[in-house]
Amino acid sequence: MILVTGGAGFIGANFVLDWLATHNEPVVNVDKLTYAGNLQNLRTLQGDARHQFVQGDIGDSALIERLLKEHQPRAIVNFAAESHVDRSIHGPEDFIETNVVGTFRLLEAARHYWAGLADADRQAFRFLHVSTDEVYGSLKPTDPAFTEEHNYEPNSPYSASKAASDHLVRAWHHTYGLPVLTTNCSNNYGPYHFPEKLIPLMIVNALAGKPLPVYGDGMQIRDWLYVRDHCSAIRRVLEGGKLGETYNVGGWNEKPNIEIVNLVCGLLDELRPRADGKSYREQITYVTDRPGHDRRYAIDARKLERELGWKPAETFETGIRKTVEWYLDNADWVAGVQTGSYRDWISQQYSQENKASA
Ligand code: NAD
Ligand code: DAU
Repeated sequence: MILVTGGAGFIGANFVLDWLATHNEPVVNVDKLTYAGNLQNLRTLQGDARHQFVQGDIGDSALIERLLKEHQPRAIVNFAAESHVDRSIHGPEDFIETNVVGTFRLLEAARHYWAGLADADRQAFRFLHVSTDEVYGSLKPTDPAFTEEHNYEPNSPYSASKAASDHLVRAWHHTYGLPVLTTNCSNNYGPYHFPEKLIPLMIVNALAGKPLPVYGDGMQIRDWLYVRDHCSAIRRVLEGGKLGETYNVGGWNEKPNIEIVNLVCGLLDELRPRADGKSYREQITYVTDRPGHDRRYAIDARKLERELGWKPAETFETGIRKTVEWYLDNADWVAGVQTGSYRDWISQQYSQENKASA
């Protein structure tokens, strides 16, 4: 039995699906079901006794302690977080509450549970914390990719909150001996990605005939990894990672945002051409830049490859085609997640008018 937190979100749900497709070991999935949590992501597990869903908060110590006592998991994999940089700029408090205080409470519950285990179980127990490359800050064009030795230089409220959580995880290992592992991954994409993030937003807006908002000059670089490859990396680290260490996860796939948007438009032109015969590229609209926008991320994943033999299965070409096809085939899923007043703030913040007056 493993306990997964945030398993109704984008990566967590993909992880639970991937885990149960590759293991017979049950999962208890604790998720608060914020705007980003969606049980539709797990609908294919309906009736599967190996998956038990519990709606709850990682900051609810009594609940987590009860679940640990009841299910006796051999590992905790912590995905639960507020994950969107724009939201963290708009309203940072939830990020501190979940990513910092929530992780702290989860660590404390894990520590007490772990301390009470019998020797062999205590040896085998793992707490795997899922983190991000954004904790390392922003790279210049000629800088080498982030290694695990790179300084922590977070720039957004989101990345600062994730950096804080990574430090707590590290401290719980060094101070209390909790057997922890941390993964720092680059930008994921794939099925069940909430359409506030670049790739799904571009697909969904393109199909709806809406503008495709490219922040600033569109030359910011992100390093993209197909979500199931992130899942396989987490499984590998859980199996063989050295306690207390961190592992960078990435696909050596740096691309400027504008190139991503053009690629998505090209795939849509091929798979679902516009009625007027024009390209979806016509909808690209340059808008105000994100405040404090990090210019470039790039992950050096050689430690994970060298020590644990991990490699991604998808190339960007295969992964992005699968992703666009998934969104075309799952219009009902998209319709179900497209509400919320936060959209008003986004359209106001990232408008052309705003750019003109900035
Ligand atoms: P997401 O926003 O899609 O999902 C987060 C999930 O956590 C949601 O289901 C939400 O309901 C749940 N959650 C939020 N607060 C909670 C709380 N207090 N208690 C319990 N559940 C709570 O995020 P994601 O993109 O799937 O990211 C998952 C993890 O991976 C995060 O920790 C994120 O920092 C990290 N990460 C994401 C990426 C990426 O590209 N998306 C890359 C590297 C690392
Ligand atoms: O690097 C890993 C991180 O990747 C994760 O830790 C975060 O949880 C995840 O959200 C993601 O953060 P980004 O800020 O890189 O992702 P986002 O999809 O929001 O933006 C990707 C790039 O695209 C970024 O440079 C901003 C830009 N962008 C984004 C949106 C939503 C646009 O130009 N237009 C948009 O509408």
